[in-house]
Amino acid sequence: MKPYIFITRKLPEEAIEVLKEKYEVAMWDKEDIPVSKERLLEEARRADALLTMLSDPIDETILNAGRSLKVVANLAVGYDNIDVAAASKKGVAVCNTPDVLTDTTADLTFALMMAAARRLVEAAELIKEDKWKSWSPLLLAGQDIHHKTIGIVGMGKIGETVAKRATGFDMNILYHNRSRKMEVEEAIGAQYVSFDELVAESDFIICLTPLTNETEGLFTRDVFRKMKKTAIFVNASRGPVVDEQALYDALAEGDIAGAGLDVFDKEPISASHPLLKLNNVTAIPHIGSSSVETRMAMMELCAENIDLVLSGQAPKTLVNK
Ligand code: DGY
Repeated sequence: MKPYIFITRKLPEEAIEVLKEKYEVAMWDKEDIPVSKERLLEEARRADALLTMLSDPIDETILNAGRSLKVVANLAVGYDNIDVAAASKKGVAVCNTPDVLTDTTADLTFALMMAAARRLVEAAELIKEDKWKSWSPLLLAGQDIHHKTIGIVGMGKIGETVAKRATGFDMNILYHNRSRKMEVEEAIGAQYVSFDELVAESDFIICLTPLTNETEGLFTRDVFRKMKKTAIFVNASRGPVVDEQALYDALAEGDIAGAGLDVFDKEPISASHPLLKLNNVTAIPHIGSSSVETRMAMMELCAENIDLVLSGQAPKTLVNK
């Protein structure tokens, strides 16, 4: 009997062709609706491999249900949706998709910062709603990006690539990370500072840290109060790193000038969420790595990892320690 792979979302056929040649492959048939917990549990019981999305909670129940489960390949660099400790205990390999999405996610992060600073979404809406009366001196005047200070929280590969983008805009680059990155300091001229210093001195605070027990709720009201009143906060990591109510209050009461958000506490965020009522919020639906080329590369990497594990070899991008 061929090993069985279950894919939790409808992916393009060409992305899974290579798996289909060697394995029995089944796929959830919806592109934009996640698989139900019941179906996932049912599939996990018989699967040798799961190809999962960041929106699928792969908890102990799912992992323990798997009698022959050998690998969970997550279509994301982040893997906070997976109980990695429980997977390791069961001997299940967990894989993610680093590297292939670094440039694309850095591009989007930088674009989101620029869109929030220069009020691009507001400007596009104004013109489409036929509200453009005339050229006027301060119409949708935003903030400059060039020669400002960018503060990157979480200097992983994406952070480093955002910093590289910032050099082209003559920005002063600060960063905070669990450990210093001497090679980034030398190559890009980024300066390591404490979290408090970064928050107080940056014009743009860019959150790129993974969601862990240590980073959950990192951005509190107190932290937003320490930022410049002209600061723009950008989150392209995970929603729960931020206390969303605190962010709302900070934006509504003028502690900071604006926010660019690709991620939210609860995804999808509802259009009636108070944050989305604020003009100074530029919000997009978790599309950090979403270019056709990159998403296809991520799918290929997941398929490759699954194939490697199922043929008894080490996967390319293993997460378990
Ligand atoms: C990921 O892959 O974890 C990021 O959220 C990219 O969008």
